[in-house]
Amino acid sequence: MTCRIAVFGTGYLGATHAACMAELGHEVLGVDVDAGKLAKLESGEVPFYEPGLTEVLERNLEAGRLRFTSSYADAAEFADVHFIGVGTPQKKGEFAADLTYVDSVIDQLAPLLTEPAVIFGKSTVPVGTAERLRARARQLAPAGDDVDLAWNPEFLREGYAVRDTLHPDRVVLGVDRALPGRAVEVAREVYSQLLDEEIPFIVTDLATAELVKTSANAFLATKISFINAMAEVCEASGADVTVLADAIGHDARIGRRFLNAGIGFGGGCLPKDIRAFMARAGELGADQALTFLREVDNINMRRRSRMVELARDAAGGSLLGARVSVLGAAFKPDSDDVRDSPALNVAGQIQLQGAAVTVYDPQAMDNSRRLFPTLNYATSTLEACAGADVVLVLTEWKEFRELNPDVLGTVVRGKVVLDGRNCLDVDRWRTAGWQYRGLGRAA
Ligand code: UGA
Repeated sequence: MTCRIAVFGTGYLGATHAACMAELGHEVLGVDVDAGKLAKLESGEVPFYEPGLTEVLERNLEAGRLRFTSSYADAAEFADVHFIGVGTPQKKGEFAADLTYVDSVIDQLAPLLTEPAVIFGKSTVPVGTAERLRARARQLAPAGDDVDLAWNPEFLREGYAVRDTLHPDRVVLGVDRALPGRAVEVAREVYSQLLDEEIPFIVTDLATAELVKTSANAFLATKISFINAMAEVCEASGADVTVLADAIGHDARIGRRFLNAGIGFGGGCLPKDIRAFMARAGELGADQALTFLREVDNINMRRRSRMVELARDAAGGSLLGARVSVLGAAFKPDSDDVRDSPALNVAGQIQLQGAAVTVYDPQAMDNSRRLFPTLNYATSTLEACAGADVVLVLTEWKEFRELNPDVLGTVVRGKVVLDGRNCLDVDRWRTAGWQYRGLGRAA
């Protein structure tokens, strides 16, 4: 069954969701206020780097199943299923999430809903938001209680966005249990192909659905900070955190994934989500339950400082005048996203200590320049490393993991490599004459 769907927001989440819903055979309209983004998307260009998304976008534009608009009136007229995929960034100077964009979608869309419609929220929001938005949508909409609002959190990872959207681990749907509407039935139609593949479909109340998302990200962040805390102890005791992670990861109850120690987590989700979660728990009087997340955040930020410390040691005790090459700027590989990127944060701190820092990233150069215009940027690894005293690998792109240390050795001034992601083959680098340091491993 074909649904007529509008997706509000065309960022990493919204653009992927719109293209993937069209890929499932639905008729989709992507809605955004950013005319530049819309023009790109309409011409088949994805405004950010996401492997595989361009193909899905082009295919569905061509098939006429996918269009874009800035008009809420068009969206309200065209669709009876609406997805909210706008951002919920951290508020300036506070831990809490900024809900301006989500609120604005409801305030603009609901007054235009004259016919029955279902709104699905996908953005990550503090628990309690969906209930508030549901009441507001029904109050503003001429169709009143014929408008249903449910929460359908998204679990996609950047770099795997298409795959995660079309083959999710689970579909979670939060509905108002007391006043049920049409959301469950409509979600079954929208996701019928996924549900046919027996992907678990978990229907619950609004608050639980919101919390599933926030707690999943909190757990992932905790897992990373746990292994990074072990890295600190390994550094203090001469042990090796990578071997430790492999060994504990064999226990299926622990699992090896998300146990990579390094300079920690960044991006537009995990850091701000754990902070917003703490802020919301505080409002609910449950702040004690989440005080450990404060430590998760602290451990994470400490890893960045530790990297800077290692760079200073490697430069002979002072970074003043040192030439430092930074390989990687994106918050993780296969993404051009530099929001709260540990790599750029470390590069910036090292520059502040007086080093000349040159950065190279396969995809994130434009975004990095915008955020950190004072760093030097090179167009290749070899150019970035020419004459370097210290080389830092801070994002584990495949092209860095597979670097040839013999070739790199011919352009640097000092053969010192600091592996901020424990992604290099230590023996290979040491055999090639490099001084290698990883995080959580003996010198
Ligand atoms: C994360 C979650 O993984 C998704 O499930 C969620 O949907 C998304 O946030 C979101 O809320 O939208 P994402 O931010 O794309 O996805 O990236 P991750 O793969 O989770 O990586 C986050 C950060 O953790 C990166 O900086 C990465 O380098 C770091 N990381 C990850 C580690 O330091 N160690 C690990 O073992 C794994």
